[in-house]
Amino acid sequence: MLTAGGDCPGLNAAIRAVVTRAGSDGRTVIGIEEGWSGLMEGRVRPLSRDDVRGLVGRGGTVLGTSRRDPYVHGDGYDSIRETLEANEIEAVVVIGGDGSLRTASQLGKEGLPVVGVPKTIDNDIGLTDVSIGFHTAVQIVVDAIDRLATTADSHNRIMVIEVMGRTTGWIAAVAGMAGGAQAILVPEVDVDFEDLAQRIIARHESGYDHSVVVVAEGTPGPGGDISATGKDQFGFTRIGGVCHTVAAEIERLTTYEARPTILGYLQRGGTPTAFDRILGTRMGVKAAELAMSGDTGVMVAARGNEIVAVGLDDAVEAPRHLDSATYREASWFFA
Ligand code: F6P
Repeated sequence: MLTAGGDCPGLNAAIRAVVTRAGSDGRTVIGIEEGWSGLMEGRVRPLSRDDVRGLVGRGGTVLGTSRRDPYVHGDGYDSIRETLEANEIEAVVVIGGDGSLRTASQLGKEGLPVVGVPKTIDNDIGLTDVSIGFHTAVQIVVDAIDRLATTADSHNRIMVIEVMGRTTGWIAAVAGMAGGAQAILVPEVDVDFEDLAQRIIARHESGYDHSVVVVAEGTPGPGGDISATGKDQFGFTRIGGVCHTVAAEIERLTTYEARPTILGYLQRGGTPTAFDRILGTRMGVKAAELAMSGDTGVMVAARGNEIVAVGLDDAVEAPRHLDSATYREASWFFA
């Protein structure tokens, strides 16, 4: 079992569930350290029930994680073959986001028996209603909006709050709705800054001289570009910073004071909500059962109240963008 990509709350609950469920059938679960890195470098250790006690509510991942990828930073299947054989690994449970699950699917096509578990605060994995970590991130953002709204009110300011999500606006839309934001800017919907400014002015003129604007990090700014700050150590673009240009543009167009806040990694840290503890546990149990029965090439998924298996290849081919219905429900409240 490995956890790969960005961490999120609920990973440890899933790890605990896989080890406990497989252990109850007398199977050994080997923990792979730091995602695909550990599989490429042979950094693995057996995990016992005692190793995972007390993990259900702990944030982060005890296995560590990274964005290293056998196809991008190695020779694909050949870079993991030795570790698989040396440790007699029969199936790999990959707890990952879209990138890691795509890699898992590719390795699956080369013969790796794999079971995927969807985790990402971005909530952009296909064929599952929700991914591990999303619910906690939304709660953290709502708490932050509540706090920033009171200081916005005291100072008659516009607070521009940037949230994660990479190319999708799930966190922005859902947390903006729950936090009562006046405007929600997401990558899936073109932003008309003139219109936004006019709405803010109208709101202020009607007596409400503060506003909260939530912007997803992947939303193009006033210049039309996605804001980024170079590459990370694995060569992936570091998205972030759009709230600065959005706040400046709002200030320019309205003359009201606008202040940017980036919530950043707060959204991925700390204890998972009860929802993510339960989702991680249920998905972990299902993943262990699928792996033990040799039912591989699949991803566990939440569908209504059920945890089911879907085709891993199908899931990675169907990324889940914010739908227009949810966006509309979230954006009625600009008044
Ligand atoms: O995919 C999860 C996520 O938190 C995105 O929302 C964000 O853009 C990205 O990871 C940040 O990644 P890193 O941890 O590599 O900076």
